[in-house]
Amino acid sequence: MDAIEVIRAKRDHHELTDAQIDWVIDAYTRGEVADEQMSALAMAILLNGMNRREIAAWTQAMIRSGERMDWSALDRPTADKHSTGGVGDKITLPLAPLVAACGAFVPQLSGRGLGHTGGTLDKLESIPGWRASLSNDEMLDVLRTAGAVVCAAGSGLAPADKKLYALRDVTGTVESIPLIASSIMSKKIAEGTGALVLDVKVGSGAFMKTTETARELAETMVALGTDAGVRTVALLTAMDRPLGRAVGNALEVEESVEVLAGGGPADVVELTVRLAREMLEAAGVSGKDPAKALQDGSAMDAWRRMIAAQGGDPDALLPRAAETMTVEAPESGVLTRLDAYAVGLAAWRLGAGRARKEDPVSPGAGVMLHAKPGDLVRAGQPLLTLHADETARFARAIEALDGAYAVGPASRPQLPLVIDRIT
Ligand code: URA
Repeated sequence: MDAIEVIRAKRDHHELTDAQIDWVIDAYTRGEVADEQMSALAMAILLNGMNRREIAAWTQAMIRSGERMDWSALDRPTADKHSTGGVGDKITLPLAPLVAACGAFVPQLSGRGLGHTGGTLDKLESIPGWRASLSNDEMLDVLRTAGAVVCAAGSGLAPADKKLYALRDVTGTVESIPLIASSIMSKKIAEGTGALVLDVKVGSGAFMKTTETARELAETMVALGTDAGVRTVALLTAMDRPLGRAVGNALEVEESVEVLAGGGPADVVELTVRLAREMLEAAGVSGKDPAKALQDGSAMDAWRRMIAAQGGDPDALLPRAAETMTVEAPESGVLTRLDAYAVGLAAWRLGAGRARKEDPVSPGAGVMLHAKPGDLVRAGQPLLTLHADETARFARAIEALDGAYAVGPASRPQLPLVIDRIT
């Protein structure tokens, strides 16, 4: 077999055979198929698609390219959540300890942010001492101590995806449902979780801008998980406006701790509790109410154990950016729009995100929202506070926010927080 044959087949709208897929993924991982050949194939897949059988074979081949984790030695069921990424999406932070407090183990491999969406590891790394890199044995120890662990995937997990995702990132081939679904699910299946809840975001701040494309991605991922023996459910949730009031690493940790203390913004609490219920149901755990576990301190206890077990100090002061700037409401009325993508872009330009994988992030940078769509505002009241380490960053953040918000006489309909559930 050779790479040109496989590229030509997909270029000419043929289905790839299981043997072609197995060969090309294995040969690419070993370096026998060159990057330029794999990028031609990725582009042919983006343009001509893959059917469900091809996507399943592609996913399985990527899983086989590396190790598969196994939690069967644990005495409780495992459950995980994956979000397709959004602005202000800090849900993993309160959710993982909450589900642990309710009786399931949560082994979560997370990522760093790229572009306008934040990454869970960047957020947690703003806690002094906290470590994202753990060995498999250390992961098991943290799970046994705290019930939940959130860490970086080791290099042995789905190495074909690591190589391919980096290539897609620089060849305009990220936006393909077969490639996104197989990329996410190969890592989640290899991670070894028994149950998985997918939070597929919809709107300007998400990968998927429309409910239709988000539904197609969700259905594809649910089918891949279910076929691999993972009990998988997906929620389609709103990302036309930011989630919560904090956007930026340390700012989002602070907001997550508020939620764990029984407070926090209503949308973050609602989504955290809903996802916790879905994870517990998929894992077959009953008897504990996640809403109560946020009020009675048990979720907070699990959070403190989880942070400490990964070297972090749960009582440490979080980093703050040196400079702030306030954006005021232009007139009185109802805030009718606050665009998620624009706020994410502003936070990124303030230093909260990175342009290249190796760039550092500023832990204190970001945006605090003082009003959400539907709220009444008065002319001149603070609408947003921008946080950055240098004042020079404010001008480009303000540019990103141009046209991002509107005040009008009456509220406008917005996407419901939970749009649909796919099983
Ligand atoms: N996240 C992933 O892990 N893979 C993709 O292809 C897109 C988002």
